[in-house]
Amino acid sequence: MEKFVGILTSGGDTPGLNAAIRGIGKAAQTKFGMNVIGFRDGFRGLMENRIIRLDSDVLSGILTLGGTLLGTSRDKPHKMPISGKKRDMTDVIVENYHKHHLDVLVCLGGGGTQKNAYKLMEKGLNVITLPKTIDNDVAHTDITFGFDTALGVATEAIDRLHSTASSHHRVIIVQIMGHRAGWLTLGAGIAGGADVILIPEIPYDVKHIAESILQRSKKGKSFSIVAVAEGALSKVNEKKLNTLRGKLNETQDKEEKQKLKEDIARAEKEYMGNSMKLSEELEELTGLESRVTILGHLQRGGTPSSADRLLATRLGTACADFIKAGKYGIMVAAKGEGVEPVPLEKVVNQKKLVPPDHPWVLSAKAIGTEMGV
Ligand code: F6P
Repeated sequence: MEKFVGILTSGGDTPGLNAAIRGIGKAAQTKFGMNVIGFRDGFRGLMENRIIRLDSDVLSGILTLGGTLLGTSRDKPHKMPISGKKRDMTDVIVENYHKHHLDVLVCLGGGGTQKNAYKLMEKGLNVITLPKTIDNDVAHTDITFGFDTALGVATEAIDRLHSTASSHHRVIIVQIMGHRAGWLTLGAGIAGGADVILIPEIPYDVKHIAESILQRSKKGKSFSIVAVAEGALSKVNEKKLNTLRGKLNETQDKEEKQKLKEDIARAEKEYMGNSMKLSEELEELTGLESRVTILGHLQRGGTPSSADRLLATRLGTACADFIKAGKYGIMVAAKGEGVEPVPLEKVVNQKKLVPPDHPWVLSAKAIGTEMGV
């Protein structure tokens, strides 16, 4: 009897998800004769038993499509929003897994999805994950699918902003996705030739940035492009946040803990990637006119790049091989030109952040790009 495979996509959508679903589904069916179904809208669809048969006609013609044919959500099995309340629905999910006689559940997602899949593994389910996110911040994989496409979009945006910034002699701040990790901003900033690159991993000094923009002006460059990550923050605000985080670590009091968590969430919202504030500050310090462009979900939409299609297909077909071999509890990671099964417990609770001495950072600095410090 051939195996039964369930697939879901969870977290923010990413170009390449359909290519990965197609890769897993086609290889599982064509190579091994397995039965493949998909659950709609992430873990919510698994809980609500909303399925779609991933037969060959459904898998055909989806390689080039952005988004995910399965739909997605950020709902977690153990904190499922139901009628305004968050409930632990893990047992229902486990029951539905068995109801469909699944041999394995394949979860396509970023850091949060890896964690949720791991929790289900602890409940006895066979799970395999694939790493996807435009943020490229999943640990133990060379790269995640979606990143390359978003990198192309953000780079093109910076290219386009150059001409208008130059014509109007303005500072243009372009805000790029990435709350904790700066890979996308750094990559697009370098590829697009941004003059200033600000990432969450390297808190900045606004005076320093203003000084470098003024230096450019003195050299006859009457415009500047500032690529700033959603999660970038100033050194001053980082200090304030760290004080709050330190207090949270110290306190044992339940009420105080809750209050501090709320304070941190509010402070993060106010301090991180506040491009409007940064724009005002730079206008004041440089005397130059400044504008802000927030790229937002443009970076996640549309057709996947050829590199992402290739990566997603590579990981998807390897996933089918691991299912055949009964190798579960793993993430199918990209390693060099091949793949590597990484135990899920190694992946969870880790983020691949940009090391301040990463070769990309060194290259940016070597060509005179301002990193904000
Ligand atoms: O995790 C990918 C990501 O695109 C982040 O870069 C961004 O901060 C977040 O998702 C936005 O999520 P949402 O679409 O839920 O607002």
